Amino acid sequence: MKSKKILVTGGAGFIGSAVVRHLINDTNDQVINVDKLTYAGNLESLTPVSDNPRYTFEEVDICDAKEIKRLFKQHQPDIIMHLAAESHVDRSIDGPGDFIQTNILGTYNLLEQARDYWTNLQPEKKTGFRFHHISTDEVYGDLEGTDDLFTETTPYAPSSPYSASKASSDHIVRAWNRTFKLPTIITNCSNNYGPYHFPEKLIPLVILNALAGKPLPVYGKGNQIRDWLYVEDHARALVLVAICGKIGETYNIGGRNEKQNIDVVNTICELLEELAPNKPKGINNYKDLITFVMDRAGHDMRYAIDASKIQKELGWTPQETFESGIGKTVQWYLDNQEWCKHIQDGSYQRERLVNYS
Ligand code: NAD
Ligand code: TYD
Repeated sequence: MKSKKILVTGGAGFIGSAVVRHLINDTNDQVINVDKLTYAGNLESLTPVSDNPRYTFEEVDICDAKEIKRLFKQHQPDIIMHLAAESHVDRSIDGPGDFIQTNILGTYNLLEQARDYWTNLQPEKKTGFRFHHISTDEVYGDLEGTDDLFTETTPYAPSSPYSASKASSDHIVRAWNRTFKLPTIITNCSNNYGPYHFPEKLIPLVILNALAGKPLPVYGKGNQIRDWLYVEDHARALVLVAICGKIGETYNIGGRNEKQNIDVVNTICELLEELAPNKPKGINNYKDLITFVMDRAGHDMRYAIDASKIQKELGWTPQETFESGIGKTVQWYLDNQEWCKHIQDGSYQRERLVNYS
């Protein structure tokens, strides 16, 4: 297949870096990684591919219209994969401003610059152009029943400032397709986990806190349900959609791995008993570190994705089960203590972000 120029926003983040590593390792495409390097962006996650001549890094804020215009002009991309966002629900409760700025206004800016660039392209390049917006299942809100699943037609009902900002960006993307005919595609995915995950999210936080002998904070009763997908399965799905997805469509992506938070935490503790039996001083059992703490405000009870559309139409299926993926993930954190140390040299030390007192 002819090599494409793919501009990835947020390529230094958790999922973006998996997309960039996949593109460089498994395709012949060129990648322009556009990232502001917030607390969540880390160029060390790209060390395996950063010397490749098909990889370029641009430290740019997606809200900066002048710089985004320059990037389109200079790099002449064929495809935009837009992942840059503020992504942590707890941070959005603590301070929603950055979420409105990056997730809504940043997406609007990127769309406007893409529209201007696309409008002036030569016919062949114009026909092939795609703007792929990467979003979350959290836009659909809280599932009530135990059997319900989010489909592509489930009405939006976001609960947190994070999910509301992502819902808003999805609506704006759809409007740019309908009104201006900009060739957009949207994907909404469930909770990801895997290597290079910033340790403020449940799974890496629990692994690193357990290894340090610190409390493992479980919100409320720990009975909330999330549908977990291994990040490399998501990265493969995203590249498939960007290249083969139908313009104007939405695809839900998920692993049908619904787990209660407490079961996820228990599984990690059991894996660590096996893989890291030398515990910190005074700790007999990793599970003894589990600490139930005050629940998150507005906490959604259950998310679960129906991914049958992407499976039927594009032939994507996840390769990892939760059991295989979580085993790989725990082992990765044990083998990559340097990455973990460097990422925590900054201001965030795995403290709880929202003060509920
Ligand atoms: P992340 O927080 O790990 O990474 C976000 C990246 O975006 C970082 O590298 C950061 O530096 C960059 N960024 C933030 N603001 C920017 C700005 N103004 N300009 C340029 N770059 C900026 O997030 P993630 O978990 O990798 O999520 C990536 C995308 O996938 C997000 O859009 C998120 O909503 C979506 N998503 C995430 C999950 C999940 O479980 N993590 C699930 C579904 C969808
Ligand atoms: P998180 O990883 O923050 O992802 P999201 O909020 O986007 O689903 O949280 C996953 C689940 O774990 C969520 O129900 C909140 C819960 N949680 C805890 O119980 N303790 C924690 O320390 C964190 C960060 C999350």
